[in-house]
Amino acid sequence: TECNLLVLPGDGIGPEIIAQTLRVVSWFGEFLDVQIKTEHALVGGASIDACGYPMSDEVFSKAEAADAILFGAVGGPKWDDRPRSERPEMGILRLRKGLDLYANLRPAICFPELIGASALRPELVRGLDIMIVRESTAGVYFGEPRGISTDAQGARRAVDTQSYAEAEIARVCRLAFELARNRESRVCSVDKANVMETGALWRSVATEVGREYPDVELTHMYADNCAMQLLRGPNQFDVIVTDNLFGDILSDEAAALTGSLGLLPSATISAGRHDQRSHAVYEPIHGSAPDIAGMGIANPIATILSFAMCLRISMNEPAAAKLLEDAVRLALFNGNRTPDIAGPERDGISSDAMTDAILASLDAL
Ligand code: NAI
Ligand code: MG
Repeated sequence: TECNLLVLPGDGIGPEIIAQTLRVVSWFGEFLDVQIKTEHALVGGASIDACGYPMSDEVFSKAEAADAILFGAVGGPKWDDRPRSERPEMGILRLRKGLDLYANLRPAICFPELIGASALRPELVRGLDIMIVRESTAGVYFGEPRGISTDAQGARRAVDTQSYAEAEIARVCRLAFELARNRESRVCSVDKANVMETGALWRSVATEVGREYPDVELTHMYADNCAMQLLRGPNQFDVIVTDNLFGDILSDEAAALTGSLGLLPSATISAGRHDQRSHAVYEPIHGSAPDIAGMGIANPIATILSFAMCLRISMNEPAAAKLLEDAVRLALFNGNRTPDIAGPERDGISSDAMTDAILASLDAL
């Protein structure tokens, strides 16, 4: 088979971490059954500078045609004065909307060597490996009516609407169950069924979808309790599936538990028009880090692990994905640290040297 990978480096450290990740892509290219074909294009500020838009129609068409998209990061001070609708970030938004990327997958993994960086006590985060699946194209961020009005007395009122269709809940839950099968086969569905109509529907649909997966354990939890349980005993979770708003908050909370912005990957995927997963964007959760851009010290691991997610989800190569994740762990185990994770008492190594270490681990494993 073949995989057409569209590479969108973006701005700041985006091109640097993408260049490192492409070294890993080439390493896999040599022995996978999948033939990976890469094509590069501009997005974000780099695209604004070239053509005036954060994502041109031409690049969007390429994204539509690609099997998977590897995305760096966009944005930076150079473009900060522009109106919101003309900023680099609109590039990624156009992808999300245009490709109907309904599920955002955010793993929260705590690497044993970096436990000290976590917001929690070591015994709580040891072995932490959670997958948060956030619905990302519906819910309160998109529901109508919305807006701010002013009454006769001049007092303002703001309205947002939380709205979910059965099908919108079902597809994201189904994906969570599928993912759980390759993990510990446990799904925790998070809602506020006690006080919200959308929560009640969420719970009922999650339960119905769960019947299609008798081999996967399904539990339900209220969102406020989940926020607390993530701090009390995060290891109780395997896959968490939840709506757009709760997912936004809980996935950031889970990322803070691991204490490592430069290490965490993400995937955002769509149902596509004909089959289950025809579009997917893989990207680090961090931004373009203008403060360290051009210095050659950005941590490439978040992007490299995003490619591991691509191997697993878009290329259906779970063994290769596992191999890559193990290689990253081995490189960390051997003491390789970029400055962001080096701690105060030692110097960090370059992005290049970190990737060298991961490639050496791949050769060794
Ligand atoms: P940021 O994630 O870019 O940086 C926050 C801090 O973490 C900085 O000190 C940075 O040096 C550090 N950092 C981030 N990634 C790192 C890595 N791989 N290695 C080492 N250190 C790393 O967030 P910030 O500063 O709030 O935003 C900077 C720009 O990025 C803004 O223009 C923002 O809009 C954009 N951004 C873009 C995102 C995207 O493309 N998806 C997501 C978040 C922010
Ligand atoms: Mg957020």
